[in-house]
Amino acid sequence: MGNSAGRVVVFGGSSGIGLATVRRLVDAGHEVIATGRDADKLCASLVDIQGPVRHEAFDGTQRESLDRFFSSVGTIDHLVIALSGGDGGGHFQELDLLALRRGFEAKFWPHVQAVQAALPTLRKGGSVTFLTSISARIANPGTSGLAAINGAIEAMVPVLARELAPTRVNAVSPGVVETPWWNAMPEEARRQFFANHASELPVGRIGQPDDVAQAVAYLVGNGYTTGSVLECDGGLHLL
Ligand SMILES: NC(=O)c1ccc[n+]([C@@H]2O[C@H](COP(=O)([O-])OP(=O)(O)OC[C@H]3O[C@@H](n4cnc5c(N)ncnc54)[C@H](OP(=O)(O)O)[C@@H]3O)[C@@H](O)[C@H]2O)c1
Repeated sequence: MGNSAGRVVVFGGSSGIGLATVRRLVDAGHEVIATGRDADKLCASLVDIQGPVRHEAFDGTQRESLDRFFSSVGTIDHLVIALSGGDGGGHFQELDLLALRRGFEAKFWPHVQAVQAALPTLRKGGSVTFLTSISARIANPGTSGLAAINGAIEAMVPVLARELAPTRVNAVSPGVVETPWWNAMPEEARRQFFANHASELPVGRIGQPDDVAQAVAYLVGNGYTTGSVLECDGGLHLL
């Protein structure tokens, strides 16, 4: 059943890349359970999606909540993890190591424990798709912490693809994507950053959530791809 529609859990399904992924997967005929911490935000984000989608609010950093969720949800075919943290950026000499720890707590550990918690109910031969970041691969000064967080997840992908086989394990590695993840940056500075960044990229624009959702949907649906980290970054890794 590698290619056919199934039940998918999408962590971070109330915003940005995760929300666009929910839309894509529902359109492709999957039944989707979207998660996030904020129940109202989930309701508001998913309200206009026509099709089999429901949601559950809990904190993905809490192992007990994850175990409770997966034991109530029943068998699933695919797991997509698009939840995020924002901490861990900055030049190395001044890098706030407490912030870097928070970055790992918010992204690395939830990714790892979500997969562990899902395994008892994840159908063998289904799939896991992580959302990492091109910062893991592009040697961009000021991103060593983000590279470490995302690189740690990427390092697990090929190992898990063998260890958990026949379940497939992949990641999508996005570049700069216009989502609420960037909202901490003041609006004018953000607009300027996006414009400058777009002008440097081979594709000449920054990413939209659906660009990345399309890559996720490919990895969920393609029964012959495993152990891969798929760059979806407008060519940022080439610069
Ligand atoms: N946007 C970019 O430019 C970019 C670039 C490279 C990589 N990425 C990666 O792509 C992934 C998705 O990013 P995005 O831009 O779509 O982010 P986003 O718009 O900020 O959405 C994050 C989602 O994660 C949920 N979430 C956050 N912490 C959670 C927690 N502890 N438990 C449960 N849910 C949690 C949020 O819902 P609640 O707020 O309700 O919890 C929200 O649905 C992240 O891993 C990010 O690092 C993004």
